[in-house]
Amino acid sequence: MNKVSASPFPHRLSRILSEHTGIYHGEERQYLLESRLFPLIRNFGLPSLESLATLLERTPSDASPWPEVFDAVTTGESFFFRDLPGINLLFNTVIPELGQTGRTVTFLSAGCSSGEEVYTLAILRERAKLSQPVEIDGTDLSFRNIELSRKGLYSERSLRFVDVRSRLAYFEPEENAFRIRESVRQGVRFRQGNLLSLDRDVPPEFYDAIVCRNVVIYFSTEARKRVIKNFYLSLKRGGVLILGSGEILPESDEFQFVSEVHGSVFLYRKDGKS
Ligand SMILES: C[S@@+](CC[C@H](N)C(=O)[O-])C[C@H]1O[C@@H](n2cnc3c(N)ncnc32)[C@H](O)[C@@H]1O
Repeated sequence: MNKVSASPFPHRLSRILSEHTGIYHGEERQYLLESRLFPLIRNFGLPSLESLATLLERTPSDASPWPEVFDAVTTGESFFFRDLPGINLLFNTVIPELGQTGRTVTFLSAGCSSGEEVYTLAILRERAKLSQPVEIDGTDLSFRNIELSRKGLYSERSLRFVDVRSRLAYFEPEENAFRIRESVRQGVRFRQGNLLSLDRDVPPEFYDAIVCRNVVIYFSTEARKRVIKNFYLSLKRGGVLILGSGEILPESDEFQFVSEVHGSVFLYRKDGKS
């Protein structure tokens, strides 16, 4: 059950956050909003969430305290080989198909958290032994997550679905953790960015495939639409979009639905062409 807060709901802050991150905190998520932002307002010496709203309104989104707010309001839970049906779809269909194009293939993991999804794609790329280069970009709103992604150092918890053979092949043990090997890092790039402005951050028709899972679940309807539009603009014609069950498109004139695996992964194609 949701906990009830004694304070009035911070409508203005909720609106500002939704506009800048896509993430919508309604009254039923007030407790979460407060528990995420109270430590931050204390650190900044601000008296209330209202005063944080005022400060954010006056601050460009690349200046403090925006990065701290992005880190605070996002949820970065991720792990290697998350959602096996989706992994199999990538492994059996998308990667081999893209592997036949004979040119560099470019993937985006949109909302990559601390990098597990990106490196999972990179491991699949290694296993597939494709004849042409495959580049994989990871982008996330949280600066902290991008730092962790670049570090590539993971706990046992992140590797809970990685079998022993893959651990040996793709990770180096380091104290009580596992560091992703250099060979897996080839062609992998990370960039802090906002999916709401992806159209400004990457050239049009840049990606062959975009993977976005467990990201827009708490986005406002408007923000979801904007993100899907940006995916459309950023994909090449015939490019594929792989969404999790929290992301599915109710209906779309732009993407053609291709397939669904176990109700958890949904594959779409831009313009329905290959
Ligand atoms: C729960 S994680 C999912 C990670 C990974 N896709 C997976 O399925 O394991 C959601 C990620 O989306 C990111 N995110 C949320 N809003 C975003 C936005 N507007 N732009 C870019 N990333 C965002 C969060 O920072 C978080 O790391």
